Amino acid sequence: MHFCRPMVLDALMKIKMEQDSTLAFRKSCREGICGSCGVNIDGINRLACLHKIRPRGTTKIYPLPHMYVIKDLIVDMNKFLAQHNRIKPYPIPKELCVKSEGDQQFLQSIKDREKMDGLVECILCACCSTSCPEYWWHGHTKPPNDFLGPAALLNAYRWIVDTRDGATHERLSELRNYYNVYRCHQINNCTSVCPKRLEPGRAISQLRLYLSKFKKKPKPDMVGKAPSDPYKACPKDECE
Ligand code: SF4
Ligand code: SF4
Ligand code: FES
Repeated sequence: MHFCRPMVLDALMKIKMEQDSTLAFRKSCREGICGSCGVNIDGINRLACLHKIRPRGTTKIYPLPHMYVIKDLIVDMNKFLAQHNRIKPYPIPKELCVKSEGDQQFLQSIKDREKMDGLVECILCACCSTSCPEYWWHGHTKPPNDFLGPAALLNAYRWIVDTRDGATHERLSELRNYYNVYRCHQINNCTSVCPKRLEPGRAISQLRLYLSKFKKKPKPDMVGKAPSDPYKACPKDECE
């Protein structure tokens, strides 16, 4: 008999080792980083590796709600991840210098970087989206008439506030339809369950301010790229 460590994930692993080797669940890091162990514990979406076993009574563990179940606690994340891909989760610089792509860093001041605090920590665990009633009803309909959900929208906002990104207008245009930002009713189920204490509900309300032009992306403190060799300037004349 193995000693059981204090988290729900430890209990699941103990059950798998000692009682039922067919039990299926996802896990990797065991410290709230990889986002793979999201499940519903006693009615609330949580990371099994960060949630302590109750000292007394019964704990009920279910797969993330309103998702297609593959086996036991494993749900199909394909649609959720495809929705994340649709927000283009990578920087799209205004001017692309092909010669220096992947070789040079885009400059960003510390103050501008701080604007992304509370956004870049998202681990795509899906706890928020699968807690969201709007995502239950409209998250699984056919694209583009599906609600992207709080996780994808928080990440869309993360790229909009990133001063190194030059595609704000295109990103906002993609979100300007009946099924994205405007399906959110701001009840904040998403924010209340996020294991990283992020605020997807707030990110969505900020997106609305950008879409309605009440808010504009401020000018960055720094522009351009750091030279790959710190003693050499970027060979601008060679750029395409
Ligand atoms: S916002 Fe929070 S709950 Fe939602 S996917 Fe990211 S880390 Fe998970
Ligand atoms: S605030 Fe919006 S995104 Fe968050 S749970 Fe409510 S409807 Fe869903
Ligand atoms: S196992 Fe990685 S977040 Fe739980």
